[in-house]
Amino acid sequence: MIELNFTNMMDSALGEGGISDRQIEAIRGCIPAIHSKIKDRAVPGLSFIDLLSQDTGNIKEAASFIRDNSDDFLLLGIGGSALGPRAILDSLSPFHNLKKRPRVFICDNVDPMTLKNILSLIDIKRTAVNVITKSGSTAETASSFMVIWEELRKAFGSRASERVIATTDPEKGNLRMIANELGFKTLVIPAGVGGRYSVLSPVGLLTAEVIGIDSIEIIKGARDIHEKCSVNDIWDNPAYLFGTLLYLMDRNEKRNINVMVPYADGLKAFSEWFCQLWAESLGKDGKGITPYPSLGAVDQHSQLQLWMEGPQDKVVVFIRVLDYGADIKIPAVFGAVDGIGYLGNHMLSDLIKAEEESTELALVKNKRPNMTITIPLIDAYHMGQLFHFFNIATAFTGFMYDIDPFNQPGVEEGKNFTYGMMGKKGFEARRLEVEKEREKKACYRV
Ligand code: PA5
Repeated sequence: MIELNFTNMMDSALGEGGISDRQIEAIRGCIPAIHSKIKDRAVPGLSFIDLLSQDTGNIKEAASFIRDNSDDFLLLGIGGSALGPRAILDSLSPFHNLKKRPRVFICDNVDPMTLKNILSLIDIKRTAVNVITKSGSTAETASSFMVIWEELRKAFGSRASERVIATTDPEKGNLRMIANELGFKTLVIPAGVGGRYSVLSPVGLLTAEVIGIDSIEIIKGARDIHEKCSVNDIWDNPAYLFGTLLYLMDRNEKRNINVMVPYADGLKAFSEWFCQLWAESLGKDGKGITPYPSLGAVDQHSQLQLWMEGPQDKVVVFIRVLDYGADIKIPAVFGAVDGIGYLGNHMLSDLIKAEEESTELALVKNKRPNMTITIPLIDAYHMGQLFHFFNIATAFTGFMYDIDPFNQPGVEEGKNFTYGMMGKKGFEARRLEVEKEREKKACYRV
């Protein structure tokens, strides 16, 4: 089971600026209302919890077809539709494309260089395409899919549809409409489940199954951590404590930046997944805590100086790995060179673990709060736990801030200008606004 250790957040470790038991006790009063809300799925966004009882049979079936008939698997999606699958791929099948088939390509951005490269690498005739969009109207996903659909049509003619799996809303949206019309296989993102909470839906689980990971194990892990995160008492609920501690650090100490630093290359994409979840869910109504993705031990040589001696505005969240699933002994060479000889005969895992523990200690000694989530092993079961833990913690924290953690009204404005510029009907005025703005911007140029 994953575990949260928050010793280095408390006043007993930090002195002034640490959180006291009394402060946590004071929050207790808010918990029952939030707890009931979550337990009763009082808002549709909480239906991500119902994913824990889904039947993954249809996902397994689709994956088995893809594995049997494809050398390449191309996923098109952005935001929550891409970050979860990428976190699953990188954590559970590192260096996948160099070792296994089908290779997996996740195309989220609309950088033409990326799609051009992907097209030059894949064999379209042996490619299965998973287009993922909950709304069905996301411009980035739609345009990449339009490019790929044309390629499929050239390659397969009237049988192009057989190569597409559309993951989308059960009823609504453009992709649902096109899928019904053209007869794509479809997988459903349940109505209440928003993009960034969808990793444990077919959005993430299809990729898992395609790369040979048992989705049932992922869900089992999520279910087990859910039990631990379903207790009313804040002191026994790691997800509630995680949110409460960061909320208190923001409110009382003005620490409104959260660094997420896993000590495993396989969790780098996970850290990016977390950052989207945290940022898009909590950043509204002038509130929110800024997440920033990081990687240990690499960022000890890049960011640590800032965390140690920069502004007192951060909380560092470590992810410590107990078993890396692999290890290498450092040979006892260069024994006569004192500066590096001492490393000989140690395991690489000893070094990375020592670095993580030392960084925690160095930070706390310098009165910099941090907490640690320990994951026993990076496998399907524990990744399920990690994903669900943060889903619950994020929803809880949103309720603590009294904001809606499931919407994202702030992203609409920019989208509308893009629609105008790309000629979408009904957005003509937005285009004019952009053009006017361009004239204004002519002034301050060098
Ligand atoms: O979390 C969210 O809702 C967003 O990040 C979406 O995942 C992202 O905007 C893509 O949306 P869609 O799945 O509708 O294409």
